[in-house]
Amino acid sequence: MGMRTVVEKQANEKRTGDMSGTPDLTREPPREEPARQYYFIEKCRQYISEESDRLGHPLTAAVITFGCQMNARDSEKLSGILAQAGYVLTDSEEADFVIYNTCTVRDNANQRVYGRLGFVNSMKKKNPHKRVALCGCMMQEPSVIEKIKTSYRFVDLIFGTHNLFKFAELLCTMYEGDRMVIDIWKDTDQIVEALPATRKYPFKSGINIMFGCDNFCSYCIVPYVRGRERSRRPEDILGEIRSLAAQGVVEVMLLGQNVNSYGRNLERPMSFARLLREVEQIDGIERIRFMTSHPKDLSDELIAVMASSDKICRHLHLPLQSGSTRILQAMNRRYTKEQYLALAEKIRSRIPDISLTTDIIVGFPGETMADVEETIDVVKRVKFDNAFTFLYSRRTGTPAAAMENQVPRKEAQAGFDRLLSCVQETAREQVARLSGQTQDALVEEINPHDPSLLTGRLSNNTIVHFPGDPALIGRIVPVALLENHGFYFIGRMAK
Ligand code: SAH
Ligand code: SF4
Ligand code: F3S
Repeated sequence: MGMRTVVEKQANEKRTGDMSGTPDLTREPPREEPARQYYFIEKCRQYISEESDRLGHPLTAAVITFGCQMNARDSEKLSGILAQAGYVLTDSEEADFVIYNTCTVRDNANQRVYGRLGFVNSMKKKNPHKRVALCGCMMQEPSVIEKIKTSYRFVDLIFGTHNLFKFAELLCTMYEGDRMVIDIWKDTDQIVEALPATRKYPFKSGINIMFGCDNFCSYCIVPYVRGRERSRRPEDILGEIRSLAAQGVVEVMLLGQNVNSYGRNLERPMSFARLLREVEQIDGIERIRFMTSHPKDLSDELIAVMASSDKICRHLHLPLQSGSTRILQAMNRRYTKEQYLALAEKIRSRIPDISLTTDIIVGFPGETMADVEETIDVVKRVKFDNAFTFLYSRRTGTPAAAMENQVPRKEAQAGFDRLLSCVQETAREQVARLSGQTQDALVEEINPHDPSLLTGRLSNNTIVHFPGDPALIGRIVPVALLENHGFYFIGRMAK
């Protein structure tokens, strides 16, 4: 299936204004951003059109995404630049240019990338014009770069998370030479606004509100590969959302590794709750979601804003990681089991219809079955509506990787299996509560498995499938939740 591309005309009239008109390629590239990148996009257009004339077909490009919502949004930015430079976007790795936007949060994410690379190499042998780029979190690890330099020589371009905004410039460098182009930055405090982006869905969009992470949970590699926490200015965020609303976007997802610490380091500090209030004011935006909330920073102000809002969705993803205070301490999560339980209870009592979801790691160094039982106790008491459970993965360079008491895989797996069945049980019970209700659903797509059905999402993130006219895609409609299928419903549109 071809990717739908809606190229966002970005935010902030004032700043995009001076870039209207085609950059003059006879001059030196401008120094300031984003004008510099618009210059290189124009330059790429020439290279791409020349190559497409030579090959006798339009050049296609595919961005293949691994990892979290942040990466998904980054991929939309890459696609936006590719589309403006003249590539036809597709989802297929058969494309003339394939970009893998990688994740390194757990080792299996890395292994999947190496697997894809083996496959794409065989395709490149058949099509020597094919080009391959790698970017994203995995590229911020020096050992990965070494491995690619020695074992994957066919890769044309490698860049990291901090210089993604330079993609157009790097593309030009790639076209101008025939050697592997590698550009990785250790960190940055730069935020480049007003570059193009595409959207997978015309009616909903992710929006970065901050980048990086300063929490250094002891198992986690994200702070090392995404750099220090920095917040976008509220006026840039709000400008972007206003322009999305003008293009018909009804749902926004505000993205950050820890949205609850948004705005602390701004010149004029602003709380996340305050930002949400401002987003709520924007006409046309009907639903607001956000990801992710760190329990240690979740404020009463935020709970109050959510409770009083018609637009903020009834869903909070609140990663627990472990229910054992001892393990939480070793993880550097900075809350105890009791604090988490008290927080969850407070949220449930003030926003009774909220759905709480979570992330849990099993097999952290030193974890025993007794610790896993503590986690299970929290799962049963909080009754999570859904939980993502992960086997601990040892990430080079993190404090936990150096701990001596690593848990053997078999033991971790036993704890994992036990936890998983509990998690599934509470999730089923929670979903069952909705049976028979009528709720608003945003219609997202035609059900990929049964084209007679539409697929919609409730405010609390539960999925419902129901018969209906595909013209409703992008609209919010009331749906009666008739049949509970464990993790989703079959429903009927209500009048
Ligand atoms: N910023 C988010 C999490 C981003 S990573 C937060 O703090 O909640 C997404 C999830 O991956 C984490 O919540 C955690 O459960 C999991 N994760 C991170 N590092 C991991 C590791 N080394 N092994 C296994 N799971 C890990
Ligand atoms: Fe990783 Fe912790 Fe930051 Fe989340 S808050 S990204 S788990 S270091
Ligand atoms: Fe993975 Fe990077 Fe996200 S490591 S989880 S893609 S921030």
